[in-house]
Amino acid sequence: MNIGTDPKSVKQKSLVDSASFGQSLGTYRLPCYLFSRMNSVFITGGTSGIGLELAKTYLKKGWKVGVCGRDADKFKGHFDSARDNIQFYPLDVADREAVKRAVHQFAQPTGLGLLIASAGISYPHKSKVPDFDRTYRMVHVNLLGVMYAFEAAMEIMIPQGQGQMVAISSLAGFNGFPGISGYSATKGAVMKFCESLGLDLRHLGLSVTCVCPGFVDTPLTRLNHHPMPFLMKVERAAEIIVRGIEKKRALIVFPFFFGLVVRLLSAMPRFLYRRIMRTGSINFSRDNTKEISP
Ligand SMILES: NC(=O)c1ccc[n+]([C@@H]2O[C@H](COP(=O)([O-])OP(=O)(O)OC[C@H]3O[C@@H](n4cnc5c(N)ncnc54)[C@H](OP(=O)(O)O)[C@@H]3O)[C@@H](O)[C@H]2O)c1
Repeated sequence: MNIGTDPKSVKQKSLVDSASFGQSLGTYRLPCYLFSRMNSVFITGGTSGIGLELAKTYLKKGWKVGVCGRDADKFKGHFDSARDNIQFYPLDVADREAVKRAVHQFAQPTGLGLLIASAGISYPHKSKVPDFDRTYRMVHVNLLGVMYAFEAAMEIMIPQGQGQMVAISSLAGFNGFPGISGYSATKGAVMKFCESLGLDLRHLGLSVTCVCPGFVDTPLTRLNHHPMPFLMKVERAAEIIVRGIEKKRALIVFPFFFGLVVRLLSAMPRFLYRRIMRTGSINFSRDNTKEISP
């Protein structure tokens, strides 16, 4: 295990920063056979919860694994430093250059087969008026963090002519749910980002997967103050995600029944959706409007 690798110590050539992306491809495209055994995965937010469980799963499969997060202490106890083929990069995913350096450093010299953008934050409390500081932070981590990771991965995968990028969105991205406006917005944006890229990159040999879990038992959800129907164990969630990734699914939605309900909600006329979501028994948005002062 390699903890404390400083991504700043590595200077990498950025293909996206080059004047023309298309030209870069021509210059840097490498033969696919060089990467045919490239079992390497970089996971953002790999120090906890879903990202950590995915890191463990890929290690067990014998893959080379890179994870990033801000807190090395969360990560340390989970791996055997002598045995594990894992590297840790301490960074904030909202720092575009740091993400780029880490992903490029990790991909040397084997290339990069899989990128999983799992780092994310949410609101522990549902409220009618959002905590805007946290909401803006969510945009930086949940949305820009995914874009920065994908950007870095594309710089490696497009020249390779193969690779898979995965983002952990949420069932909350299917609809604007009450009490979690910023979270729904960032997760919905990630879904659209993945859907568009999946269309754009297919002919280059790249696949894009968007994962939409319901509630999974992780440190993130343990802070929640609202009911969590169909709460799932993180080990089971990781199994479903890895299976979907292997099948190169564009969209992985689970658990099945909760996912079905949420998708039906997203397909129904919006006036009906609004009427249902105003129902007190399913709307847990705390009324904090009186706490707002001019
Ligand atoms: N758990 C659920 O029910 C659920 C459901 C749907 C979607 N999701 C999504 O799944 C993803 C993982 O969630 P989780 O439940 O596994 O949460 P978690 O246990 O809290 O893990 C979140 C991970 O993200 C990292 N992270 C957070 N902010 C970061 C930042 N600014 N820079 C770098 N890393 C950062 C954390 O590491 P550090 O603290 O070390 O930085 C940690 O490794 C999130 O995107 C979440 O929205 C979760």
